Amino acid sequence: MEQTETVRNRSNMTIYDLLKQDHKDVKKLFKEIVDNNRYQDNIYMQVKKALEVHMAGEEKVFYSRLENNMDTRELVLESFEEHDLGKKVIKDIDSSAAEDAKLAKVKVLSAAFDQHIRQEEGDLFKKAKKVLSSDDEHEIGRLFENEKMAKMQGRNVT
Ligand SMILES: [Fe+2]
Ligand SMILES: [Fe+2]
Repeated sequence: MEQTETVRNRSNMTIYDLLKQDHKDVKKLFKEIVDNNRYQDNIYMQVKKALEVHMAGEEKVFYSRLENNMDTRELVLESFEEHDLGKKVIKDIDSSAAEDAKLAKVKVLSAAFDQHIRQEEGDLFKKAKKVLSSDDEHEIGRLFENEKMAKMQGRNVT
């Protein structure tokens, strides 16, 4: 029942609401590791999966729509770059053996994530709202949900 409710509600959400919800969920997971100041593999694996799915969907249906617009291009190019940096840190975490080294990197990733979403939810959303119509906001929201679902199930949507 509760799940049906969630699915129904999410289908009415704009891309902005959906992205913000994801950001909040990831922030909460990061906080658990950072506040405890202890690397926890199970939580990190959840962060990693959530970030990978989020970034892929965001790039494919949101950034791509804004990349060739004069008003949003600069911020979108920066955002792509920040995603790439994040992906590199994730690789570094995965290839580190020592837990204290993993913890240091997770903390850096968490701080970079905070900074990234601040700009995303601030300047980028503000500019995007001038570029995208209200129909677009909902349509891109639906596309984003489909992308995420496919990625979580290991499928590819084109
Ligand atoms: Fe995001
Ligand atoms: Fe992003």
